[in-house]
Amino acid sequence: MTEPTFDDKARLVAGASTWKTVDGGPGLPPLLLADGPHGLRSQGASGDSLGIGDSLPAVAFPPAVALGSTWNVELVERVGRALGDECRRLGVNVLLGPGMNIKRSPLGGRNFEYLSEDPRLTGTLASALVRGIQSRGVAATPKHFAVNNQETDRMRVDAIVGERALREIYLAGFEQVVREAKPWAMMSAYNRINGTFASESRHLLEDILRGEWGFDGLVMSDWGAVDDPAAAVSAGLDLEMPPSGRHRRIVDALTAGELDEAVVDTSIERLRVLAARTTEVLPVAPGPAAELVAAEAAREAITLLENDGILPLTAEASTRVLVIGEFARTPRFQGGGSSRVRPTRVIAALDVLRELSAATIDFAAGFTLDAGEETALADAAVEAASSADVLVLFLGLPDHAESEGFDRSDMLLPADQLALLERLKRLDVPIVVALSNGSVIDIAGWRDGVAAIVEGWLLGQEGGTAIAEVLVGHTNPSGRLAESIPLRLEDSPSHLTFPGQDSQVIYGDDIYVGYRSYDSLGTPVAYPFGHGLSYTRFSHDGLVIADRGDNCWSVQATIRNIGDRDGAEVVQLYIASETDRIRRPVHELRGFTKVHLAAGEEKTVSFDITPRDLSYWNARTGRWQLEPGNYRVEIGASSRDIRLEGTISSAGDGVIDPLRTDSTLAEWARNPVSARVLDTIKAGLPAGLAEKAPELVAMVQATPVMKLTTWGLGLTEDIVHDVVAQANGALGADTP
Ligand code: BGC
Repeated sequence: MTEPTFDDKARLVAGASTWKTVDGGPGLPPLLLADGPHGLRSQGASGDSLGIGDSLPAVAFPPAVALGSTWNVELVERVGRALGDECRRLGVNVLLGPGMNIKRSPLGGRNFEYLSEDPRLTGTLASALVRGIQSRGVAATPKHFAVNNQETDRMRVDAIVGERALREIYLAGFEQVVREAKPWAMMSAYNRINGTFASESRHLLEDILRGEWGFDGLVMSDWGAVDDPAAAVSAGLDLEMPPSGRHRRIVDALTAGELDEAVVDTSIERLRVLAARTTEVLPVAPGPAAELVAAEAAREAITLLENDGILPLTAEASTRVLVIGEFARTPRFQGGGSSRVRPTRVIAALDVLRELSAATIDFAAGFTLDAGEETALADAAVEAASSADVLVLFLGLPDHAESEGFDRSDMLLPADQLALLERLKRLDVPIVVALSNGSVIDIAGWRDGVAAIVEGWLLGQEGGTAIAEVLVGHTNPSGRLAESIPLRLEDSPSHLTFPGQDSQVIYGDDIYVGYRSYDSLGTPVAYPFGHGLSYTRFSHDGLVIADRGDNCWSVQATIRNIGDRDGAEVVQLYIASETDRIRRPVHELRGFTKVHLAAGEEKTVSFDITPRDLSYWNARTGRWQLEPGNYRVEIGASSRDIRLEGTISSAGDGVIDPLRTDSTLAEWARNPVSARVLDTIKAGLPAGLAEKAPELVAMVQATPVMKLTTWGLGLTEDIVHDVVAQANGALGADTP
């Protein structure tokens, strides 16, 4: 066999076509890739990435916005397994998902494809999906790595984000998924991060992803994301998708010695590993019908936002229910763009309502789903409504209002729907609103006078069943908000900087995304993170916190269903730091569990608190740091509904950071070796200074010690170097 040439090798690290990798001979069979996160969009070997061309029929599961609202790890893992089964059925080796970028703004055009505004919820649910998918011998591909939080100018925009926000918010979910679920592939994002394209960032792909987190899979580009193929391979990107035909650049770089051949060989080896992992014949039988799993996920995603007691609807035959809104008949069940699935069927809520309810159910469209306004439809709906006993109004965002590829410019429902709602309110017939939308909408502007609001997100092809069941009470709603719904768009923390301009977006909101901002500032919200009502009620009691040593604790609480219906509560664990040296959000989600309880039943739930749960990212030292002090442990039903509280006390991680020549006097005081020379420095200060001029002492404390060498305190550069070297020598650390 002849040795592969540079040309052969360069061809292998780009795909063969839109959805296929190159057939590289033994050990390197062509692999079939397919979108997407919530159902297969498999077009075979050729096709498009825009969601325009047709694909093979496949079950459309609830998109990430809905899966996020289930807060049910076990269920989401089953969705992953069912997706994996779908891939096996259609011969797909690599599934391009889950999408797991943080929802930085309510306006994000692709929020429907992402799980949450919170990295812990995102990381936990994405891990469940990855475990499920990969249990079927199919690779999952978490995307878009990283900081792809907007659609505006997504292929060029430079996201300027601080290291702490990067680690605590934008990378944390990816880190969790890599450590916990070990995905076999990862997709790099289109955008730049702090000046470098994600696909060309050695810091991101090599230092962090592989070096720190131990990722052992293959990194592929988002479709068309690669700017310079040679720079991308050299930075750790293994596969350019789809092929751009620029493999010559890699050959040239290899020939010129600018690119090490070993780097390309490593990428080819990763392709080989991916092939081995995804072509194994597994002895697993397919799980339950995908439609059943999709329906179950839809049921648990629906989030009841308001209910004055009108829901569930009574089933008396004499009750005249008027269903209004085209969405009841023509469901909007998925978002637009690359994740668009050709469903195997679509169930409309109106049909199921008619089957399930003994009441008389009439229908009026009220509006159309295209951009035009239809006064006649609205008039007919208002006319019919005047003789109804209850109105169930299906409102939402039509396809043209949100999609991959652009961000929204406001949070409003379409004007014709809002106008119709106002006219209906005047009739004084009770109104239930059922919503279909992929990203949060303004609700505060119209909720007065509405009896109940059911947030149905986008629920996949089986969603109609789930919505109808919730309305009539066959299903007790148990979804919880995975993102806050602000009172006003202007309150959202990224409002002034989203989506940036001139190809640059500055993440001025730092670590204060979503509830981390609202709760820290006490900003009123329409509905807080974690909120969701039920047809029953739950009590939270018996908080027990046990110290397990090494900065680990276990937490238990007892949850009881105190109503008369079976239901499920999402128990949320937040940690609030009471140390004040580091500015932090007022509290942060660190755990959750969904507990199903029959009426009257109680269960004890448990959580573990780990050192990482208490730590913050120190951007100066470049590590997770656990500060000594007290931390409040909160058990809640939402971020604004904390039911139980306790306190734990940590001695900190005990790590002494290496001294630097620019360490301040205060930092010297915290290091056991340098602390010893402080007396010498103090001796150089005028006697009684602390009493006479405490402000001068404060100033000196905050000054890098090296700068003090010019202040005539008897401190020299040599002494500083000497102390720093001694202090670090004692720690066995290099001087940074
Ligand atoms: C999207 C990816 C998708 C790819 C292939 C891109 O435009 O950003 O999420 O997987 O197309 O369709």
